[in-house]
Amino acid sequence: MKGCGEVVYFISVWLIFSLASFSSGFNPIDNYLIDCGSSSNTSVADRIFLSDNAASNFLSTPLDVLAQTTYKSIISSSDSPLYQTARIFTKTSTYTFPIRQHVRHWIRLYFSAFVYENYNMSTASFSVFTENHVLLDDFSTSSTISVKEFSVSVTSDDLVIMFIPSVDSFAFLNAIEVVSVPDDLITDNAVLTADTFENFKGMLNQTLETVVRVNMGGPMVSFEDDALSRTWIPDQSFLVDADIIKNFSNIEAVRYGSNGWDFAPATVYGTARTLSSRSDYNSNYFTANLTWIFDVDQGFHYLVRFHFCDILSKSLNTLYFNVYIDSFEVLPNLDLSTMRGNSLGLPGYEDYVTVLTVSNKLRVSIGPSTLPGVDPNAILNGLEIMKIKHVRSTPNSDSNKGVRLAAICVSIGGFLVVILVVVFFSFICKKWKRLVTKGDSNKTSCAAPNYGIRIPFLLIQEATNHFDESLIIGAGGFGMVYKGVLKDGTKVAIKRNKPGSQQGLIEFRTEVEMLSQFHHRHLVSLIGYCQEENEMILLYEYVENGTLSSHLCGSGRSMLSWKQRLEICIGAARGLHYLHTGPVRAVIHRDVKSTNILLDENLIAKVADFGLSKTGPDLSQVGYVSTAVKGSFGYLDPEYFRKQRLTLKSDVYSFGVVLLEVLCGRAAVDSTLPTEKIGLAGWAMTWHKTGKLEQIIDPAVAGEIKPDSLRKFGETAEKCLAEVGAKRPSMGEVLWNLECALELQEAMENDTIPNVQIDDLPKPVDKNSESSISIFE
Ligand SMILES: *[C@@H]1O[C@H](CO)[C@@H](O)[C@H](O)[C@H]1NC(C)=O
Repeated sequence: MKGCGEVVYFISVWLIFSLASFSSGFNPIDNYLIDCGSSSNTSVADRIFLSDNAASNFLSTPLDVLAQTTYKSIISSSDSPLYQTARIFTKTSTYTFPIRQHVRHWIRLYFSAFVYENYNMSTASFSVFTENHVLLDDFSTSSTISVKEFSVSVTSDDLVIMFIPSVDSFAFLNAIEVVSVPDDLITDNAVLTADTFENFKGMLNQTLETVVRVNMGGPMVSFEDDALSRTWIPDQSFLVDADIIKNFSNIEAVRYGSNGWDFAPATVYGTARTLSSRSDYNSNYFTANLTWIFDVDQGFHYLVRFHFCDILSKSLNTLYFNVYIDSFEVLPNLDLSTMRGNSLGLPGYEDYVTVLTVSNKLRVSIGPSTLPGVDPNAILNGLEIMKIKHVRSTPNSDSNKGVRLAAICVSIGGFLVVILVVVFFSFICKKWKRLVTKGDSNKTSCAAPNYGIRIPFLLIQEATNHFDESLIIGAGGFGMVYKGVLKDGTKVAIKRNKPGSQQGLIEFRTEVEMLSQFHHRHLVSLIGYCQEENEMILLYEYVENGTLSSHLCGSGRSMLSWKQRLEICIGAARGLHYLHTGPVRAVIHRDVKSTNILLDENLIAKVADFGLSKTGPDLSQVGYVSTAVKGSFGYLDPEYFRKQRLTLKSDVYSFGVVLLEVLCGRAAVDSTLPTEKIGLAGWAMTWHKTGKLEQIIDPAVAGEIKPDSLRKFGETAEKCLAEVGAKRPSMGEVLWNLECALELQEAMENDTIPNVQIDDLPKPVDKNSESSISIFE
């Protein structure tokens, strides 16, 4: 061991099966089986996989592509029908499974690559995530059939599994299972040893991927014959000694307790490899190890589970042997007959954790004991190897770190009593509480496929190159905004609240809720969100041209023409009008300002930042919401300020200030100016009242504004800024007036008379205008 550079940790848990009592058989509480792409349910042994249609409420995907093949697999097994159909994901798609039991769950993903229309599944490349774990990273498969089996610990009320196609590719899936695992199958902690006798703890939180599940010296055991639907394969191909041909079998000797679902089936415990099963019955062989070799990935931790059952001995204390992982002796002089309470034939397992730092081969051996007077023999009945999928915390995280923590395992009176020790892996976020409780119902009612989805923190780290400072595109009291690129190539703006601060929680929830409800060309759309213990992150569509404010003043100002400015104002007004007359209920934005109006690559305005938005029963009944004053200085509705009553007209006031910014090319508040000029609204209105508004127009556009357009625009701004909310126009009226200002500008530019008389312009259809006038004024 020393000097070989390999570190072996192991955990050892003895379970006294005979004393444990279970009801017969294992009935998983959560049991989701879906035959993707299939139009009808599929029976596999005694399990029924739901048709894709019946399972559609678990899936959110932008486009339904259901694939079928007539190709019949050469392997004919009862699960073959699952491979005949598939679902193709052209964009990020998520399954969300409500979880009733907060325990470990199997996730089994079935793949069979075939060609359907333009989709050649053997060329597909994609990643699969759950919570904060990567299940598959840039995965592709060309094999006829493969099943990827994971087990994840689920602590939230739903399990989200996300499929993300790689750039220019797609994802596919033939079938999926999400099934509760008996909660004592993987225990949390145990004693661990290595050279250093360090401890490994926290297995409960680990995501495990099954590498191999082997029945030593026995036949293949198909999922139909395993209480937990696991598949066990024979061990021949892993054996180093090719000349071993004999199996040792004594199934009658296996003495299960009242355990209903069994840690492994009798076909596993009742068959074995022993030293004496070598074909060449030469005494030399009794002194040599019996070795199996498995392919693994270097640098990862593996859980190695040995299944033992002494089906060989005729009496107690006759079989002693050594067990090795690589060159490390993990179980010296093992006597199975006394380990489980003086009895032969009692099945059990032993868990070890090992990490291979220099090799990608994992070697398991059993060999004779060197105790004097002991017959040289050894036995192994079954073996499972599971890869531990660590949470990646930093770009260059050393996977060895963070796993060495204390563990205590105490066995009293034959029962295993696990004393939970302080949770390790502090960075493992366990609480993935669903923020948007109304989410699921909204999903069906608004039928928006791009409904805001939870995004694993890991994915966000990846998208921002671990929050690389060079990607920061904005900052504020809340934290930072980063530019990021998701795996599928989508550009996103990532707003990360200062980690650890709980202050913004309400704003965060509000924003997720609001944006999930609204989808509009002139509102920034939410791509997803992430809330893990310390993190509150929102992902928006990336809006290429930044804030309106940055185009109007400051170093980054651009030369927006008057018409462009009008079009931007019209777009923003449309967005706000949509909010105010909302599809479900009216919403007050409450923080309308030029830094919250973003411009896309075509200078289309998008209203952003709904953190302060308000809605509620009060709003639709009495027309205002009583609330503490929030918002931005320079844009605040004076009436709201005085009465602490927020109405839709508060947004109209703030929008009036934005109109003035657009006209004058300066900020709403500029403290570098003489006192009377600091606040734009008051200053500009004094000019307007004296009929000299044109004197404070942004010089960049002063020459091109036509007088009628200016007049209309000025009047509109003035109305918006009326002291009394009731005197301000509705957002719909503002919109109409701005369109009018644009029309006047265009008519004058083309030197034509507007094709309609200003005062005859049809009013926009404002479905709520009647009620909003009566309610809000
Ligand atoms: C069995 O393997 C271990 C570990 O590689 C080694 O130390 C031991 O000497 C071997 N025993 C025999 C009998 O070859």
